[in-house]
Amino acid sequence: MDYQNILVEITSTTAIVTINRPSKLNALNRETINELHEAFKHLEGDGNIKAIIITGSGEKAFVAGADISEFADFSVSEGGALAANGQELLFDFVENLSTPVIAAVNGFALGGGLELAMACHFRIASDNARMGLPEVSLGVIPGYGGTQRLPQLVGKGMAMEMIMTAGMINAEKALATGLVNQVVSQDELLPLCEKLAAKISNNSSVAIGKAIEAVNSGFKDGVDGYQAEIRLFGESFGTEDFKEGTTAFLEKRKADFPGR
Ligand code: COA
Repeated sequence: MDYQNILVEITSTTAIVTINRPSKLNALNRETINELHEAFKHLEGDGNIKAIIITGSGEKAFVAGADISEFADFSVSEGGALAANGQELLFDFVENLSTPVIAAVNGFALGGGLELAMACHFRIASDNARMGLPEVSLGVIPGYGGTQRLPQLVGKGMAMEMIMTAGMINAEKALATGLVNQVVSQDELLPLCEKLAAKISNNSSVAIGKAIEAVNSGFKDGVDGYQAEIRLFGESFGTEDFKEGTTAFLEKRKADFPGR
């Protein structure tokens, strides 16, 4: 597919999606959000893709936020629509994909950039990365899920401090607070994410999709995560992957999951 603002590269069973607006520090404008939606939808529908890595182009930024130039003159209703559309097309969409999405945070992840990283299933950062939700310094609040996902990851008190101060934390602090899982040098970032993606791809993609749904269920209003887990656990027994996984174990061989 032909994209203007993103690059999609596929190696074996892993897709690397790179947000490619380095001169704007990869800020998310409307077009980029639409292209990301299309790319993720396409990759989710491709049975050969077992994991997706998302990163930013250049050495400076993952994503420096929503594109401020696009919403500076918005009205109340336009502001609400901006958040609602973005959440639906990108942030909630990514979180609820059954294909695992790893954020490779290679530099600034601010505002919508950190919100995008937090919507991914987990995050690995390079040691130069800096993360924050600076929205209140612009007179708005985080609108792409940041007020909800940041407390889930770092706890309410730390989230409140980060949101209220509009400050940035470095990679080391992000690791200590649980915002990212590992920190490596910039050179090692993509190789590590690719290694994790390859490890993921050895497992049942059907079971992984159900596990993502079960974990997410616990964070949804009005959904009982334990009940969701029971349902999804039961459903696993009806899959070809389950038959292959258990048979391979009993036959003392490596499973070759059909992904069904
Ligand atoms: N929206 C639109 N453009 C952005 C942007 C954003 N969120 N973040 C950076 N840019 C643009 C800058 O306007 C500049 O464009 P220009 O060269 O055409 O003037 C370019 O990216 C480079 O950014 P610059 O500010 O010159 O880089 P810096 O190294 O001095 O500072 C940051 C880096 C990240 C500290 C700074 O760009 C910044 O504070 N960005 C906004 C972060 C933010 O508030 N995000 C939340 C938005 S809700």
